[in-house]
Amino acid sequence: MTKKRTQEVLRRMAESEPELAARLVVMTLPAAAARLEGPLAYDLAVEELGTWRVGVENGGVTVAPPDGSPVDFRLATDAQGLAELAAGSSPLKLLLGGRVRIRGSRIKARKLGAMSDGELDLGDVVKHGGKLEPDVLYRALPYLVEPGWTRGHSFTVRYVVEGERGGTWYVHVRDGQPLRVTSEPPEDREVAATATVGIADYERMASGELTPTIAMQDRLTEIAGEVYPVTLIGRWIERSLGRDDEEQRRESEQRAVQQARAGGGFNGASPEGQGDPAQGSQLLGYRQLYALWEQQNWRASELDFTVDKEQWLATPTAAQESTIWSLGSFYVGEERVTADLAPFLLAAPSGEIELFLGTQLVDEARHAAFFDRFGAEVMALSANDLRGRMREVEEVLRSPWREVFDDGLRDVASRIKARPDDFGLFVEGITTYHLIIEGFLAVTGQTMIRQYMLDHGLYPGFCEGFGLVERDEHRHIAFGVRFLKEALEQDPAHAATIQRAVHDLAPRAAYVFVPPYVKEAREFVSYGYTSQEIYGYAYRALKRRMGVLGLAIPPPEELMPGPIGEPATAEPAAAG
Ligand SMILES: [Fe+2]
Ligand SMILES: [Fe+2]
Repeated sequence: MTKKRTQEVLRRMAESEPELAARLVVMTLPAAAARLEGPLAYDLAVEELGTWRVGVENGGVTVAPPDGSPVDFRLATDAQGLAELAAGSSPLKLLLGGRVRIRGSRIKARKLGAMSDGELDLGDVVKHGGKLEPDVLYRALPYLVEPGWTRGHSFTVRYVVEGERGGTWYVHVRDGQPLRVTSEPPEDREVAATATVGIADYERMASGELTPTIAMQDRLTEIAGEVYPVTLIGRWIERSLGRDDEEQRRESEQRAVQQARAGGGFNGASPEGQGDPAQGSQLLGYRQLYALWEQQNWRASELDFTVDKEQWLATPTAAQESTIWSLGSFYVGEERVTADLAPFLLAAPSGEIELFLGTQLVDEARHAAFFDRFGAEVMALSANDLRGRMREVEEVLRSPWREVFDDGLRDVASRIKARPDDFGLFVEGITTYHLIIEGFLAVTGQTMIRQYMLDHGLYPGFCEGFGLVERDEHRHIAFGVRFLKEALEQDPAHAATIQRAVHDLAPRAAYVFVPPYVKEAREFVSYGYTSQEIYGYAYRALKRRMGVLGLAIPPPEELMPGPIGEPATAEPAAAG
């Protein structure tokens, strides 16, 4: 503690509790006397407290009971006088006022001026053979700890010091008010914590030899109850002794970081859309996408299929078969994308990507569970387990589907599994998975089928779940676009990888839209939509997302099996 602050504290203490101030001065006498020029011997008599013999020789200090041997002088005063002397009041003034009396060598007594000439350093006291009195130090806390430091906090901590000179003290903190220290427990509140320490460790702590943190770590201080209040008081004590500057610097730096990062980059407000540019939404960050996922969690197990079941039973076999084909590609597809996402998760190039892909893996599993519930409970598929039902459905899937899922997705997923550190390969994988399979293929089919069902009052339980699946898919695609954009910013050379994957897979994926009963992929009608509408929807969604990446796509005639039409009822911007 600086000299100025030491004197200020002593002066305040001398005014309201002179005896406590005097006890503090006596306690710190060994350190103060060490500043005196020796050899010197004097008696210090304090009316309320007693008499001490102070000897200074060769830099050594002794403070002991008087033994009657000759001294240079004898200083007699009362508690107030001693406190004022230590607080730096003029010794002459105190002498003239009769507050301090000196017998013996006044010239030597002048040396005492140096006593008030230093900082309060409890380490020094111990170094010069003094003992620290817990009672004095606890009672001094209200003068040491500035009321302002306690703003926002209200609690009481019990301190127990075990051993000789030990005792129990209650430190009461009251939101910006000066601290109060009592020997009795509070009547109006619970004690938040009890900190217990032995006298030897207490002294090592008070002198700065042992930090409160190490004391707690080594269980030299036992804390029962809440730790935070004990930590706060510990910090205020350190601060009052001028030993907390570095921690305060750290605290304000960390507070600034906390404020800058508040909300995990989510900024509280719900963003528009799912971050999918094809919906007209602006790109979201990984953390925002993660937070959206938390908000948008849903339960496949709780969807109500009561109406769906009756509608299914009434549907003739031929119509059922066509529905099994169209929903089957999603049924099997969702299971496939669950399994094939795992290598992506293991190869995630950053922690943020890993977290998001973790959420997506859960989503895809939920989508698979949703379809399987519909397949088992509504469609009444024969097998009694998920894989068995999937095999049933897989039989109706045609070669375009297999090309996309087996030759496309599964292939790149196994290559990523083999080479998880190949970032370029990861770029190719995300293009295949998020841009083509989810963005170009799945969302197009989902939007069309769901719209048809909604328009015709079909399968209400399924429609509800399918809508939630679709919302998830837009979030997944949004992640893919965000990732590819950042990859391109890092290295524009990835553009070639993305374009190659699109050119290679999109034309093959477009054939998945073609129903099995159709002879000519160029023009057909499915779920009430013309192929031009379906191709148009898929093509424009891909074009928009690639546009956000700053990449062009080939004209429709190079990518699509047939001509694309003008926007129809269900358009990318209105989806979701
Ligand atoms: Fe999915
Ligand atoms: Fe997905």
